[in-house]
Amino acid sequence: MIPPGGTIGVLGGGQLGRMLAQAATRLGYRVHVYEPQANGPAGAVAHAETNAAYDDVAALTAFARGCDVVTYEFENVPAAPLRAIASLTRLHPHWSVLATAQNRSREKNWLRANGFPHAAFAEVAAGADLAAGAREVGLPCVVKTADFGYDGKGQLKVRSEADLPAATARFAGQPVVIEQFVDFACEISVVVARSEKAAVRVFPVAENIHTNHILEFSIVPARVAPAVRAAAEKLARLVAEKINLVGVLGVEFFVTPDGHVLVNELAPRPHNSGHWTIDACVTSQFEQQVRAVCGLPLGAVELTAPAVVMVNLLGDAWRDRAPDWSTLLAQPQVKLHLYGKAEPRPGRKMGHFTVTARDADMALELARKYQARL
Ligand SMILES: Nc1ncnc2c1ncn2[C@@H]1O[C@H](COP(=O)(O)OP(=O)(O)O)[C@@H](O)[C@H]1O
Ligand SMILES: [Mg+2]
Repeated sequence: MIPPGGTIGVLGGGQLGRMLAQAATRLGYRVHVYEPQANGPAGAVAHAETNAAYDDVAALTAFARGCDVVTYEFENVPAAPLRAIASLTRLHPHWSVLATAQNRSREKNWLRANGFPHAAFAEVAAGADLAAGAREVGLPCVVKTADFGYDGKGQLKVRSEADLPAATARFAGQPVVIEQFVDFACEISVVVARSEKAAVRVFPVAENIHTNHILEFSIVPARVAPAVRAAAEKLARLVAEKINLVGVLGVEFFVTPDGHVLVNELAPRPHNSGHWTIDACVTSQFEQQVRAVCGLPLGAVELTAPAVVMVNLLGDAWRDRAPDWSTLLAQPQVKLHLYGKAEPRPGRKMGHFTVTARDADMALELARKYQARL
C-alpha cells in the first residue's frame, strides 16, 4: 500500500488528470504530472509538473524514480516508453492494458478473443483494399483509424457503395478498422475499478447521448431495462478481470433495439461519462482510481441522489466570451466544474455541470433547460 503522503505520478495533463489530482490531494497524496504541453488543466492543481515528450526517456526516468506509483489519464501515451518505466516504479494499469485499448485493431481482437459481444468488424492494413473490407462487413459501416481516435475524430460513416471512393481516399495509407454500423437504441457505459487484491467495484450504469460524436449528456440511472443494466455491469466486471486491471476503466456499450449489449470501446482511465460520480456518488471515479493504484480499499459506489445528469461544456458555448454562469450557479441542485483551459475551441471540453433530481427524466429536463440558458 502507498499511504497518503506518497507521490502519485500522472501521465497526461488534461481534465481527467486535474480531477484525479484534486481527489488525490484531498486524500493527502502528492501529485506529479507528466505532460508534453505547459499550462494544462492538471499541472495547475498538481504539486509538480514535468513538460517533456512522452518518448523522452531521460525525463520519464527521472519522473518515474520520483513517484511511488504512476498511472495515466490519457490514452495515447505511447506504450513503448511506458513499458520502459515499468521496471522503475509501480505502473497501474499495466502498460499492456493501454497498448490493447489505444489501438482499435488490438482492442477489437482482444474483445473477440475473450468472447465479448461486439459489432462485426474487419481490419484493413495501410494501403490495402478498404472497399473490400467494407463489403465484407456490410454497408452501412463506420471506418475508424486504428490509432489516435477520440470524440469521433478519425471516423467516417459509409452509407452506401457511392461513399466508398471518398472513404478510400480519406484513409489512404492508414490502417483502419471497419465496423458494422449499429443502429442502436441507446448508448450506455460503465466505469469499473479493480484493485491489486482483485476487489472489483462497478459504478452505476450511465446512459449517454452523443452529439456530433462528442458526449453531450450522461444520465444516471440509465433508462434501460434491468436486464440490460445487469448485462453491462457483468461485462464490465469481466473486462476488468480478464484484462487484469489495476485502476479504473470505462467500458462503452451499444444497446441494440432487441436489448443486446455490445462492447464499443475500452478506456483504461476515468471516463467522461463517469464525471457525475464527483457530485452524486459516495466515491468518485477519480478517488477510486487513487484508491486502486495506491492499494487502498475501494470505496462504495452507491448514488447519493435519486438521479443525476452530466452536461459537457464545449468551447462552442464561449464564442467570444465565457458564458454567464450566474443563472446556472443559482440553481441549488447544480454543480459546475471548469477545467481552467485558456482557449475555448469548438468541440473542446472546457468543463461540465451536473444536475441532480428526483428521477432521470426530470434531471435531463432541467439539464437541457440550464444548458439552453448558457
Ligand atoms: N459502429 C458504430 N455504429 C454506430 N455508431 C457508432 C459506431 N461507432 C461509433 N459510433 C458513434 O460514434 C461515437 C464515437 O465513436 P467511438 O468508437 O466511441 O470513438 P471515440 O469515442 O474514440 O471517438 C460513438 O459513441 C457512437 O455514437
Ligand atoms: Mg467512444
